[in-house]
Amino acid sequence: MLSPRLSRAEPLNYTRMCFLVNCLKRLKSSQQWLSRQKADPYVEKAKIYNYRCRSAFKLLEMNEKTNILTPGLSVIDLGASPGSWTQVAVQKTNADGSDKTKPKGMVLSIDKLQIFPIEGATIMSNMDFSTIEAHDKVIAVLGDKKVDLVLSDMAPSATGVKELDKDRIIGLCYMAIRFAALVTKINGNLLFKVWDGKEVPILEMDLERFYRNIKILKPKASRSDSSEKYILARGFKGIQRPLESGRWG
Ligand SMILES: C[S@@+](CC[C@H](N)C(=O)[O-])C[C@H]1O[C@@H](n2cnc3c(N)ncnc32)[C@H](O)[C@@H]1O
Repeated sequence: MLSPRLSRAEPLNYTRMCFLVNCLKRLKSSQQWLSRQKADPYVEKAKIYNYRCRSAFKLLEMNEKTNILTPGLSVIDLGASPGSWTQVAVQKTNADGSDKTKPKGMVLSIDKLQIFPIEGATIMSNMDFSTIEAHDKVIAVLGDKKVDLVLSDMAPSATGVKELDKDRIIGLCYMAIRFAALVTKINGNLLFKVWDGKEVPILEMDLERFYRNIKILKPKASRSDSSEKYILARGFKGIQRPLESGRWG
C-alpha cells in the first residue's frame, strides 16, 4: 500500500504527467501536420492560384472528369468554409459575370463557420446544416427556384473515435441528400463527401431511387491515406411525395 504522503502527492504528479504527455502528443501531431503541409504540392499550388485551401483541386479535378460545373448553372455549396470550392464554382459557372459572352450562374454557400465574402457568391455563414430548420431557411431564400447542382464537402470535426466519426458524416450525407431532393431541378446533380465504409453501398442503393447514375470518385488531390471519397449522383429523377425529417421510409 502507498504511504499517505505518496498517495497525496500521486494525483498531482499524475495530472502533471498527463498534461505533459498530451502536450507532447499535440506538439508531435502539429509538427507532422506542418511537415505534411510543407511537402504537399497542392498547398503551394493553392497559394499560387489564390485558392483559400488545397481542396479546390479536388473539385477542379472531379469537374475535369465529369463537367458538372458549366457557365450559367446554379449551385449550392454545403460546408463551404473557408471557400475554395465556392471560388471554383463561381469561376466555372460564371456566377460573378466576369465573362460577358457566357451565361451567368448562381452560387449559394453555407457553413456553420464563418465564410469571408467571395465575389459572385451569396454566403450564409454560421448556419448548422444538420437541422431541418436550416434547410427550411435556405429553401425560403431560394423561393420557387430549383438548382442544377448541390455540392457537399461537409465533414464533422473528428473526435478520434472512428465509428462515431463515420456515423456523424453519414448523418451529414443523408442531410445533404434530403436537402438536394427538395431543391434540385429534374436531371440536376449532387456531389458529396463520404468516408469509405460499409455504409457506402447502402448510400448508393438509396441514391439509385432518386438519381439515374451514381459514381464514386477519388481525386488525386484527396490524400491517399484518407478514407475520404466523393459520391456523384447524376440525373435527379424527382420525388413523388415530400420527404420526412431525416431519412425517408
Ligand atoms: C473540409 S471543410 C470544407 C472545405 C471547403 N469545401 C473548401 O473548399 O473550402 C468541411 C466544412 O464542413 C463544415 N461543416 C461540418 N458540419 C457542418 C454542419 N453541420 N453544417 C454546416 N457546415 C458544416 C465545417 O465547418 C467545414 O468548414
